[in-house]
Amino acid sequence: MRGFDSRSHLPSNYIMQKIRLLAIETSCDETGIAIIEFEKKIVKKQEVISKEFKVIKNLLISQIDIHKDYGGVYPNLAKREHIKNIPILLEQALGKDDNFKNINYIAVTYGPGLSPALWTGIEAAKTISKEYNIPVLPINHMEGHIFSSLLTAKNKKGDIYEIITPSLPSIALLISGGHTELIYMNNFFKYKKVGHTLDDAVGEAFDKVARSIGLSYPGGPEISKKAESGRREIVALREELRLPRPMLHSKDLNFSFSGLKTSVINKIEKYKLTEEEKNLFCMEFENAVTDVLIKKTREALYLYNCNSLIVGGGVSANNHIRKSLTEMCKNDDIDIYLSDKKNSTDNALMIAAIAFAKVSNSHPALTGEKVEDIKAEPNLKL
Ligand code: KG4
Ligand code: ZN
Repeated sequence: MRGFDSRSHLPSNYIMQKIRLLAIETSCDETGIAIIEFEKKIVKKQEVISKEFKVIKNLLISQIDIHKDYGGVYPNLAKREHIKNIPILLEQALGKDDNFKNINYIAVTYGPGLSPALWTGIEAAKTISKEYNIPVLPINHMEGHIFSSLLTAKNKKGDIYEIITPSLPSIALLISGGHTELIYMNNFFKYKKVGHTLDDAVGEAFDKVARSIGLSYPGGPEISKKAESGRREIVALREELRLPRPMLHSKDLNFSFSGLKTSVINKIEKYKLTEEEKNLFCMEFENAVTDVLIKKTREALYLYNCNSLIVGGGVSANNHIRKSLTEMCKNDDIDIYLSDKKNSTDNALMIAAIAFAKVSNSHPALTGEKVEDIKAEPNLKL
């Protein structure tokens, strides 16, 4: 990462400016607003951005309780809630007089995600940009998940962060409700997808399996809790409840979780499980997912001769997956970057982080008519 060390000796002919960036995330069922602050120095007419930024606000309203009844996210309901939540969070972030005058950049997620949900954030960004003449950085949500894992807290309070440069080349394993991807990265902002799911995303499989067991949405944390209880039990899993490890031996870096999900649903219907067995069965599901993730990630790291692994997305909050990937990396002498568990699921800080990285690396922000042209891209790729 380019940037200056804020503790370094300053040359005499410099101008320093505090820059505030407002980030908006509305791609799915979390309304996120964050404000970060950093410094811009102009030294001999050259702009240099501080290495660190400070989190002024990081706010989130989760819609989980609203979508629970549907067992998943209902796009138009998400839109309605974002429309309601954005002004509430902006007021909390900026104060009653909507002090946008101190904001120098807006970063907004424009994809991938649910189209109606994405548009709410984009429309808000456009309105503020037009009224206050603020440039906009359109942000890829998945790139946000990558940069969330590269955030390093610089103080105990955890409100000053730096983005670390991983030892490149790197593989990013992105595991969320909508995505399961292996991304090769040999430079910042340069990505090549080398593996993906052929059907369900891993988070989606967690959510659907949870539903079939009678657990609430989002299913990932619920399954994980039961699996952890399963790991403490002394009885073994019935042989007929063993699950497949799909695509484990396929000769590519792709995944498939739909068959595994169906196998779980069929077994739940066929065998009457006791509570203890449900815990063991959740553990077996978590193990099956982890085995496949480990095998494919390891192959990708090896095939592309990588020095590090970045793990991002909501499913990376899972304790067993984190632990297993960390152990694998330790054995293979690979550096691993995981986000704080609280920053694994969707939030606006991750959008601020990638926007900060872009500003630091002189990526231009959009102004005027170009802002008007920003569109939601539900299937946006990295
Ligand atoms: O990244 P994210 O917040 O939203 C998307 O971009 O999709 O990911 C949400 C997904 C959900 O499927 C949720 O069940 C899963 O992340 N998840 C977990 C855990 N926490 C969240 N999956 C497994 N274990 C967890 N602890
Ligand atoms: Zn996400």
